[in-house]
Amino acid sequence: MTTATDTWLLGADLSIHRLGYGAMRLCAQPGNFGPYPDWEGGKRLLRRAVELGVDFIDTAHPYGPGWNEELIADALAPYPAGVVVTTKGGVEKTGPAQVFSDGSAASLRRFCEGSLRRLKLECIDLYQLHRPDPAVPFAESVGALAALRAEGKIRHVGLSNVTLAQVEEARGIVPIASVQNRYNLLERDDDPVLAYCAEHGIAYLPWGPLAAKPFAPEAPLAHASGAIAQIASDLGATAGQVALAWLLRRSPNIILIPGTTSIAHLEENIAAAAIRLSDGEFATLSGTSRG
Ligand SMILES: NC(=O)c1ccc[n+]([C@@H]2O[C@H](COP(=O)([O-])OP(=O)(O)OC[C@H]3O[C@@H](n4cnc5c(N)ncnc54)[C@H](OP(=O)(O)O)[C@@H]3O)[C@@H](O)[C@H]2O)c1
Repeated sequence: MTTATDTWLLGADLSIHRLGYGAMRLCAQPGNFGPYPDWEGGKRLLRRAVELGVDFIDTAHPYGPGWNEELIADALAPYPAGVVVTTKGGVEKTGPAQVFSDGSAASLRRFCEGSLRRLKLECIDLYQLHRPDPAVPFAESVGALAALRAEGKIRHVGLSNVTLAQVEEARGIVPIASVQNRYNLLERDDDPVLAYCAEHGIAYLPWGPLAAKPFAPEAPLAHASGAIAQIASDLGATAGQVALAWLLRRSPNIILIPGTTSIAHLEENIAAAAIRLSDGEFATLSGTSRG
């Protein structure tokens, strides 16, 4: 699957492969609410991912809520050496469409302790603030994660759904190892944050790398036409693989977490790590219109 150049040193001390897995969709639908109905199938998929070299798995407390973390632990704990499971806190979910921010220091501590328990971990390698809570000073939320880090409950701090100004503010409080924002070949408004992260050695985890909307099953980039489809056909690849290969080439700090419930799609997505786009192909893709 990979070569030595396909790794990233997360937080300057955890080597991970740049093609990981986003587990969010291994939940009941709609709304990623409730335990994944094909629990054993979910475990098989997670184990297959690790077998294929995936060592970075993204989840979050509200996926389920909690059930996604329990599934990952059921499939993989005790975790093979080098496997990093990252989770997030700061969002509460009480129903398929009842989702709200909760970024107070007390809530973040409670979320983190729940994730530690469900993931069967003593320390979470990368704990991400899921999104800023407009009702809580951002510095309070980040400060809470800094405190959890100081206590050894988490190793590195990440942010999600943040602006450039928030990344800069957070870095004044605690080292930031990663930023997870929406970004893909068709949606590149976050270019300035990506560039800032690249400049400062921060991993960038684009969510929705295949351009899927959070609760929709369609992945527009997996079914793209035009230049993307043409390049895919030239390479003997799928459009989705080309979209993932474009992200890998876009910046060395990009770590991919494509989501899927299908082992065939998982294998296809992981195989994208081996695709090398030519300069011309990369330029053509970079010029494709944005949706
Ligand atoms: N921080 C945040 O706020 C946030 C928000 C959303 C997501 N995330 C994270 O980002 C991860 C990825 O995002 P995402 O799952 O929403 O979007 P995505 O990776 O862009 O796309 C996932 C969708 O694409 C389909 N798909 C995947 N591989 C495919 C393939 N090879 N061929 C055809 N279809 C394929 C999947 O369906 P199948 O199951 O049929 O393959 C699924 O519907 C999530 O798992 C989660 O960890 C974070």
